[in-house]
Amino acid sequence: MRTIYWENDQVKMIDQRRLPAALDIIACKTHAEVARAIKDMTIRGAPAIGAAAGFGLALAARQSPARTPRDLLADLQAASTLLRSARPTAVNLAWALERVMRCAESKTNLSADGLREAILNEAQAIADEDVQINKRMAEHGAALIDDGDTVIHHCNTGALATVDWGTALGVIRTAHEQGKHVHVLVDETRPRLQGARLTAWELEQYGIPYEIISDNAAGHFLKTGQVQKVLFGADRVAANGDVANKIGTYMLSLAAHDNRIPVYAVVPTSTIDLSLASGDLIPIEERDPDEVLGIQFHGESVTPREAEARNPAFDVTPNRLITAIVTENGIVYPPFDVNLSKVVKVK
Ligand code: MRU
Repeated sequence: MRTIYWENDQVKMIDQRRLPAALDIIACKTHAEVARAIKDMTIRGAPAIGAAAGFGLALAARQSPARTPRDLLADLQAASTLLRSARPTAVNLAWALERVMRCAESKTNLSADGLREAILNEAQAIADEDVQINKRMAEHGAALIDDGDTVIHHCNTGALATVDWGTALGVIRTAHEQGKHVHVLVDETRPRLQGARLTAWELEQYGIPYEIISDNAAGHFLKTGQVQKVLFGADRVAANGDVANKIGTYMLSLAAHDNRIPVYAVVPTSTIDLSLASGDLIPIEERDPDEVLGIQFHGESVTPREAEARNPAFDVTPNRLITAIVTENGIVYPPFDVNLSKVVKVK
């Protein structure tokens, strides 16, 4: 089952706020509803957000009353601006919007309805290609996994974070399907618990053995020789190989590096932003403090009523802590500032 798909002129998606308690599908009928779903994390994960943005533009095209390609493009531009503002860090969002807009701008010779059709086809192509790209990435990455490995995995990078299959979790899935015994230590991934809720749920579906650990236990497992590899995805990779990913990735990578455990980021090339020289330039989303403060323990709030909190959703791991970056076009090793551009297809 896909995380997001187009059906009956609507965008359908798994409501990731409800898992693992319930597997609900919600339908978006307007691009504004898609933007809201991205913002409130009904759908999340960089490639899934990209696919949602593409379909969001297809909805905007359907709903626009425009009769000429020129008027339709103006409505699409406004929709693109709204969708782009939904979340700032994952570059796949802007990447997908730009790809669909480029397609639309190149086809103004069509009728308005012909253009609507072309836009939907492009959005559908982004979604379909995502699945193929993930599977290619997973084949490359699985070669790095040895039979009997225990890996630490951060956040959720599986089918739920993509259209299907996954990035880092896709690598683990493919290694498992190849018959390798892989054990996953699942970082719970505070504050929104994408690991404990979503990655654990996915691993259950695939029959891959796992244990959930609190994020701050990772250093202990790495130091005591119980882990062979660290795997995660990314929301944006800068030209020098600095990796922005879910908050906590930096501390995990530091602990792995200190213990000489390899650290692999698994990313489609649509996540690589060669326009940014370093990770310092990547915008970091700061989310509602209530995501940190709202947690309960044994049914009671864990924080004083007046407590305040900070809630950066991502951090940047410097390239020196990354062993390799796995893409659909192969595995990239340092120096990343030289080698990353070799796997990214120029638009
Ligand atoms: O805030 P989220 O849940 O959207 O963050 C997702 C991540 O950080 C993932 O690790 C990243 O998008 C790569 S997964 C394909």
